[in-house]
Parts: sequence; C-alpha cells; structure tokens
Amino acid sequence: MFRILAATTFILAAPAATAQDAAEGEKVFRKCKACHMVGEDAKNRVGPVLTNVVGRPAGSYDDYRYSSSMEEAGEAGLVWDEESIFEYLADPRAFLRSYLDDPKARAKMTFRLSDAQERRDVIAYLQSLSPEDSAAVAPEAPHAAEVETAATSLCVRNLNTHAHFFAVEARGADRRTATLDPGERLCVDGDTGKTGMVSVFESAEGFEGCSRLVPVGETEDMLRYVDFDRCFWSSNT
Ligand code: HEC
Repeated sequence: MFRILAATTFILAAPAATAQDAAEGEKVFRKCKACHMVGEDAKNRVGPVLTNVVGRPAGSYDDYRYSSSMEEAGEAGLVWDEESIFEYLADPRAFLRSYLDDPKARAKMTFRLSDAQERRDVIAYLQSLSPEDSAAVAPEAPHAAEVETAATSLCVRNLNTHAHFFAVEARGADRRTATLDPGERLCVDGDTGKTGMVSVFESAEGFEGCSRLVPVGETEDMLRYVDFDRCFWSSNT
C-alpha cells in the first residue's frame, strides 16, 4: 500500500497536487474510523475490519458478529467490489433489501455516505490496502478492452473526444507517459495480481490530474475529462 501511495505523491509532487482518489479517500475514511479499523493490527470494533474488504465475500471477516441480513447476502454470493460497496455506502439498508429481495432485511451499519465522489475515493483507498500477494481481488465484469489486454499489461485508453496527456505505471516497470489521441492506448508491463496506476493530466507540464488504481491485466478507459479533479473512468461509472 505504502509503495502505491508514495509513488503517487512522487508523480504529483506539486504542492497543489489534487485529485488522487486513494489519498482523498484516506481522508474520507476518517468518517468510517468511528466504527472500522484497517491496517496490520486492526481489530473488529462496532464494524468489522476493512483491510482487504474489496474482493472479500460479504459478512466473512473472522470473529465479527454480522447482522443476519449481511450473513445471508454473503451466503447468496455477494462479494464486495467497487460497485457493490458504492451502492452499499449510499444506503446499507436499501442495498441489502434490494440484494436479498427482502423488504424486511435490516442493516447493522447505520451510517450512510451520500456524496458519490467521497464514495469513489474511499473505495479507491480501501483497494489500495489490499496486501501485495493477495490475488483475491474479484475480477470486474469483463469489458471488451480486457479481452485484448495481455495478463501482464496495464493500459489506459483515451475514450474522451480530445487528446490528453496520460501516465501509466506498475511495480517493477518504468512509468510511461504519452499524449493520446481519442481511441489510443498506452500500456506498461506489470506483475500479475498487483495493482498499478493510470493518470490523466491537464497538460504534459501540469501536475494536476486524475488517477485510478487498476489491477495489472486490465485496460482502464478514460471516458470523460471534465477538469483536473473530475474525470470519468470505466471502473467508476
Ligand atoms: C456507525 C458505525 C459505522 C460507520 C461510521 C461505518 N460503518 Fe461500515 N459497518 C458498520 C457495521 C456495524 C457493519 C456490519 C454490518 C452488518 O453486519 O450488517 C459495517 C459493515 C461494513 C462493510 C461490509 C463489511 C463486510 O465484512 O462484509 C463495509 C464494506 C463497510 N461497512 C464500509 C464502511 C465505510 C467505507 C465507511 C465509511 C465511509 C463505514 N463503513 C462507516 C458500522 C459502521
């Protein structure tokens, strides 16, 4: 985790650096800390430990007493990924009711996070906490680009209508940058099972941009660039 965050700080070394999803998410996570712990010595509190929650079956952390609804959701096959956590955080009870198709389902988590950007950021932060040798991250629904991507390459593709300046990086590989015209792709090789990062910047000289943590083996599509801290990516729409 620290390596990824450190690398991020390094690229966006300008003081005005903004828009690192995971870094913003760490701040948002303060709201969760009332009930949840993360990290090496984390213990269950009001809520379960959230280290490595992305890719984990719901209701499965050792020695935590989940609500029966959460246990049922886990038994029914719910595995936490970006999308399900995104919906869960907005309204845990509504999420469980809809997932279980049970209007009486009850959520033990009473907290809601309505701001969508905060939810994306905190999920990026939680993703960045997955231990290095965990291959447990659940594969996302496959999209077309993934099929053509080699298992060891991490790519970013510009699906916006204008050219933009991009960077891709993964552990053990040099960071690569390029200006990509619409439809163009930039890749680096990385270690399978690890996470790398893709970024888009205001300009080749600019330090401000949006980043996403992406598993090696996937192509992240940058769908729309609004401004330096608002971008739409294929994994967060
Ligand atoms: C007021 C306490 C509280 C706060 C604040 C809170 N949670 Fe929770 N959370 C819980 C409880 C309690 C559960 C167990 C839910 C159940 O068993 O139904 C839970 C469960 C979860 C789960 C499912 C974990 C699993 O192992 O299945 C996730 C994911 C989660 N919380 C994320 C968050 C995030 C992210 C935040 C901050 C944005 C947050 N929570 C804030 C109390 C809280």
